[in-house]
This record gives sequence, C-alpha cells and structure tokens, in this order.
Amino acid sequence: MQRETWKSRVGIILAVAGSAVGLGNFLRFPVQCAQNGGGAFMIPYFCALLFLGIPLMWVEWAIGRYGGSYGHGSSPGMFQRLWKNPIAKYLGSFALVVNFSICVYYVYVESWTLAYAWFSISGKYFGITDPVEMGLFLSSFQGIGTSSHFSGIGAAYLFFLLTFLANVYVLWHGIRGGIEKLCKIAMPTLFIFAIILMFRVFTLGTPDPTQPENSVINGLGFIWNPDFSRLSEAKVWLAAAGQIFFTLSVGFGCIHTYASYLKRKDDIVLNGLSASLTNEVAEVIIGGSIAIPIAVAFFGLTATAMIAKGGAFNLGFQAMPLIFQKLPLGQLFGALWFILLFFAGITSSVSMTQPAVAFLQDEFRFSRKKAVTTISVFWFLAAHLVIYFLRYGYLDEMDFWVGTLGVVLFAFMETIIFVWIFGPKNAWEEINLGADLKLPRFFLFVLKYITPVYLLFILISWAKQDAYRILIMEGVPETNVPYIITARLVLVLTITVCGLLVFKAFRKKPDTVPNSVPNTALEGSL
Ligand code: PHE
Repeated sequence: MQRETWKSRVGIILAVAGSAVGLGNFLRFPVQCAQNGGGAFMIPYFCALLFLGIPLMWVEWAIGRYGGSYGHGSSPGMFQRLWKNPIAKYLGSFALVVNFSICVYYVYVESWTLAYAWFSISGKYFGITDPVEMGLFLSSFQGIGTSSHFSGIGAAYLFFLLTFLANVYVLWHGIRGGIEKLCKIAMPTLFIFAIILMFRVFTLGTPDPTQPENSVINGLGFIWNPDFSRLSEAKVWLAAAGQIFFTLSVGFGCIHTYASYLKRKDDIVLNGLSASLTNEVAEVIIGGSIAIPIAVAFFGLTATAMIAKGGAFNLGFQAMPLIFQKLPLGQLFGALWFILLFFAGITSSVSMTQPAVAFLQDEFRFSRKKAVTTISVFWFLAAHLVIYFLRYGYLDEMDFWVGTLGVVLFAFMETIIFVWIFGPKNAWEEINLGADLKLPRFFLFVLKYITPVYLLFILISWAKQDAYRILIMEGVPETNVPYIITARLVLVLTITVCGLLVFKAFRKKPDTVPNSVPNTALEGSL
C-alpha cells in the first residue's frame, strides 16, 4: 500500500510548526519566563533550544523519514528498523502512550478556547469584573464548584464534542486533505490574529493615567528584565528545558510521524530548522508580548505576579477575559485571542493523534478511515475521565507522568538508539541526506555527547526532585487519591495495550517493503 506524502514543502513546515505552535507558546511560555528570572530565563532557554530542542528536532525528522521509507509511520517500527533488538519496538511504543495520553486531555483544554471564543462574541462573561468571580465562571463552566454561571457541565461537554469532531474531521481527511490543508489555513490566520493583538497591546501605553506604573512598558520589563541571580537554581534550568520540549513538541514522538510522510531525499535540516524558528518567533516575540504585558497594563505588577503564580490557565481564561472588557471592541479582541488559541490548539492536537492512526494503518493495514474511527472511539471514551475527574487532579497527574517525565525519557531513548546504536556515522549521513544546507560538524559532537548528557542530567534531577514526591502522592488531598490512582491505572493499562498491540503487529510480519528507493550507500553500511 502506497503511503501518503506531503503535497508541498511549505505544507510540511507549516504542519510541524503547527504542531509546535500551541497553547504552550501563548500561555505557558510567558508564565514560565516571568516566574523563572525574566530575561535571564532566556539564557537556559536558548541553551536548551540549541543543545536539546533543535538537535532533537533533526533526530526526530531523520528517524521519521528513515522509518517512513520502510513503511513505518510510528516509532515502534522505526526503532525496530534502527536497532535489531526485540526490545526496540517496545521502547518505541512508549511514544504511542505519551501521544495518545496527551491528546486525550489536550483536546479538552483546546475546547475551552473554542467555548471562550463564543463567550467573547456573545458577551457571556461581560459584566464580570471581579477576578475571583471570573475564576468561578471558569470552574462553573468546567462543572466544578457551586457558582451558578452554568447549570452543570453541559456547555463544556458541547464544546468538547465540537472540538473533538473537528479533530476527527481533519484526521479523517488524511495528511494532504486534512492536516496539510488545516495548517495552511490555520497557521497564517493565527499569525495575523497574533500580530493584530500584539499591536493592540503595544499601542495601549498607560490605560489608566492615574496609575502610571501600570503600563505596557513595565509589563515588558516584568517579563524581560533579567534577574541573573536565578541562574544558579537548577529549577530554572529544568523549567527552561521543559518548556523547550513542550513548545517544540519534541520527545513526544509526533514529529516522527509527520516526517514519515516525506520522500526519501526531502531535505530535513533546513525544514526542521524553519519549523523550529517559526515556533520561536511565535513564542518569544509574539507570545512574550501579549498576555503578560497587557495584564500588567491593566492590573499592575503585583496582581500580575499573583496571576502568573496561579499558572497559565489563570492568565488565559481568567485575566484575559477581564481585560477584554476594558478595551474598546473588547468582544472582537476577545474572539481574536481565543480563536487564535483554538487554531494553535487544533494544529497541535491532530499531530498528537496521527501517530496512533499511522500505527494502525501501517502495522495492521487498517484503512485510514477505519484507523481514525478506532482511535477516535478510545480517545472519546478516555476523554470522559478527564472531563469528569478534572477537579480531582486527574489531568495534572497525567501531565506529570507523560508530559514531563515521559518526554524526557523518550527523548533520551531515541537519542541513544539513533546516534549510538544506529551509529554516529549513519545518523549523521541520514540527517544530511538530501539536505539543502549541510550541518556544521559541530552538531555531530552535540548529538553524540551534549544532548544525551543534558537529557540524562534532566532525567536524574526530575526523578530526584519531583518523581518520588509525586509517586507517594505527597500533599494530595484525601478525596483525590482514588482519582490519582485511577489515572495511574489508566496509564498502566495504556502501556499494556500498546505493548500487546506492538507484540501482535510484529509477531510474524516480515519487515515492511520500502515504498521508495532507500539510499543504497547507507544501506550498505548497515
Ligand atoms: N507544542 C505544543 C504547544 O506548544 C504542545 C504539543 C506537545 C503539541 C506535543 C504536540 C505534541 O502547545
């Protein structure tokens, strides 16, 4: 069966950039930056970008394109191709677990952005001027708490359904007709909306002349003024690495799948770099210029610091709706902001789901529609746990194990398998095959030594700092314990099911025939 391919070079770059540009750029980044030393955070951030993010991007594109040329669109088959050890495919199945678990909760958060776009247009939250009340509005929408803005979880459920179906619709139409088309429309639109909002913020000046310290300039100062003393804290370096993983979508196993639809000699060096840089513009330049500066202009430094402490969701869903009410044409700007977040979200969530779809298509010979239907059923069912157990910390628990620890573990495994087991020479040739721009050899050194050691360091620090504390459920309220245990059981179940599927898929199947001509020079050296 002929695998799909991307229609155009711009298409694949926008698709990977679409995966990377997500809620993380506009909500998570400004909060992380403000909390971890402001401008000084950029030092560990750029180190992580240079030594982890971009090298991993190339590794993932290379693994993906290589696996794709043998008919494998997900990491179990790719890892098995790179390393002839029976365990390789099981290590690869880890990516299926991570991606699937994340898409289950990411799509729910994404649906809030769609809901809030509607609430902005319809003016539903207009009139709520108190931050606490706006927080209650959000929790009432989520079906938590006693405030009566919404009767039950019906509205949240409806927007979840719409968002879920939109995702399924895109996946159903495949790589060219679904994902590529979506990203070609959503990405430029998202950038236009973001730039409009950024200019709106920059032209605000000092909204309240009686409080001259509440200004956009001070807001930019709040996020960018460096506090170099923070650089001595390991926590800050870990936060920077975590942000790089999340924002570039590396370590999740989804870039591999997108890259598997490349042709054998399509460039990956420049394409990978372009996608990463597009993400960085959306994050550092645009993401850093909207939410926090506008919050300082309207609420002042102390209140914004409090909001940032409350996390990314507080900034996006609590502070921003209050601000839009103070702006002329606030309903319109509110809609722009939340539609922008929705587009950022949907181009990310389809990228998390495609690996599981590709797995069924490539390894079980499912048709695309059958694969999408099967995955959607499990996705839909699992999402109910997130929707109904949100208040008990279910989402956060999942997010720690798969979104924080899981990605670093996977990134470490893939680097070792690709660079050390597949071999530095093969890895280097594979990355540079078809490249418009050959990589400087310095990056071979980075890939061989710096990236794996950096990853190992993060892994150990996280395990030491957080994993044990979280494992024993330190500080978890008693009512939440059964739900946290449920989350873990669901995770164990997902791991088991993925493992069994991988076992079944590779039991007697001879390795898949290449669908394009592999590089003979490279083949000879294997
Ligand atoms: N990069 C996305 C963001 O910044 C999140 C994401 C993670 C998307 C993993 C796909 C896979 O929000």
